Amino acid sequence: MSESKIIDESKQGESLMVSAPVSPNGKKLFLESYGCAMNFSDSEIVASILKDKGFTTTKDYTEADIIFVNTCAIREGAEQRVRKRLTDFKKIKKTNPDLIVGMLGCMAERLKSKLLEEEQLVDIVVGPDAYRSLPELIETAETGQKAVNVLLSKDETYADIAPVRLDSNGVSAFISIMRGCDNMCAFCVVPFTRGRERSRDPETIVKEAQDLFDRGYREVTLLGQNVDSYLWAGGGLKKENLTKEELQNATTFAQLLEKVALVHADLRVRFSTSHPKDMTDDVLHIINRYENVCKYIHLPVQSGNSRILEMMNRGYSREWYIERIAVIRRIVPDCAISSDTITGFCSETEEEHQDTLSLMESVKYDFAYMFAYSERPKTMAERKYEDDVPEDIKKHRLQEVVDLQQKHSGERTREGLGKIHRVLVEKVSKKSDNRLSGRNSQNVTVVFPRENYKPGDYVNVLATSCTSATLIGVVVE
Ligand code: SAH
Ligand code: SF4
Ligand code: F3S
Repeated sequence: MSESKIIDESKQGESLMVSAPVSPNGKKLFLESYGCAMNFSDSEIVASILKDKGFTTTKDYTEADIIFVNTCAIREGAEQRVRKRLTDFKKIKKTNPDLIVGMLGCMAERLKSKLLEEEQLVDIVVGPDAYRSLPELIETAETGQKAVNVLLSKDETYADIAPVRLDSNGVSAFISIMRGCDNMCAFCVVPFTRGRERSRDPETIVKEAQDLFDRGYREVTLLGQNVDSYLWAGGGLKKENLTKEELQNATTFAQLLEKVALVHADLRVRFSTSHPKDMTDDVLHIINRYENVCKYIHLPVQSGNSRILEMMNRGYSREWYIERIAVIRRIVPDCAISSDTITGFCSETEEEHQDTLSLMESVKYDFAYMFAYSERPKTMAERKYEDDVPEDIKKHRLQEVVDLQQKHSGERTREGLGKIHRVLVEKVSKKSDNRLSGRNSQNVTVVFPRENYKPGDYVNVLATSCTSATLIGVVVE
């Protein structure tokens, strides 16, 4: 077994150890990933492309011939962490001069010349749309030359590549349904690092879901930066140039979700991320109609103030967002809702920050990822606005948001007490071998006695106690 490491920098910053299968060819690859689920999913594509060329993977980077770091650029802190790691890896080259170190992913485009030529930290730089060229780039690097491909594509979706499932519990898997983003939120670097939005052929998505189900998987998460913007009209056809008829016949996200839900009633379907400006009622009706589509929506608000939302170029106001929440509650009454928020965006006043807190009070999110604003190069905010909220104020506001969210998360978890939850068993609990853990439809972790149950089973659990984020209970018939 081999291993690489995933650090979700976009979100909570947790690290996971992941494994890839081994196939013989003599050269060993160590793969470490930072960033969001999309990056994690991309690492599975990289592992697949290189496995097909006979590379084996290793969990011990000291024995690797090639080290790849799949990078994240979402905030400055994320980049700094990766640079430190690359510096560590460069030191190994002193004892192993043949070692090749490569930088993949979202930092590739911006830092290619700096890290490749100026600082000579890496030998290979590959952007997120150029992974098919990895085998040739490795060959180039093996001759001692620097190898770069950071070209972004308008069409690449890796639709035909069967990802090697890394860090697999054999129960849940990611399926990438689209790439890139066209939204241009003022604070966000993603449209620059991952290029134009493009959707993947739904047939290949359904096939991937079916294959996973046949191999024993019981949950898939459909991934995209803005899943509500998914649209497939046929190979090569671009959303912006469609005729009325092509548009009518195109597959929307709601239709895709239904197709995947129909793969099997025992295959749970999740998706992320939804965008408040694009989420349709059709999607909500599908969530409500199919038991296996999870009652959980990640609907990042970013700010509770309409002036700030306008500056952020989010495409909705506070009122629009609150109305969308009301519609969710009406169509899917038992739906959990989570969010992302940014504190201290350019020119945000104390009053405007209070609007974020009051919006949180009115929605009472089940969960949230919360960040202090970090200015990113090339973004609209960097070009047009001043990053003028002092760091200590950003942090103070962040703390207030975090404290309020903790209170709400605790209250939401406690609402699950005394109720029966349908849980998909995922793994043995971290804290005790005698307990299993899984999640309910609303994405809350539920822990219960192991008995004879195993990962992949569905069980009904009566919640009898809880911690702030976990329900604890017993299996009932
Ligand atoms: N596509 C998703 C978000 C992807 S990035 C969406 O639109 O919701 C994940 C989160 O990182 C964002 O929702 C935002 O809250 C945060 N983020 C992005 N850029 C940031 C920045 N420059 N500073 C602080 N947080 C940022
Ligand atoms: Fe970034 Fe906005 Fe696209 Fe999300 S929707 S990835 S925040 S530009
Ligand atoms: Fe980071 Fe790129 Fe994801 S910048 S958050 S890895 S899309």
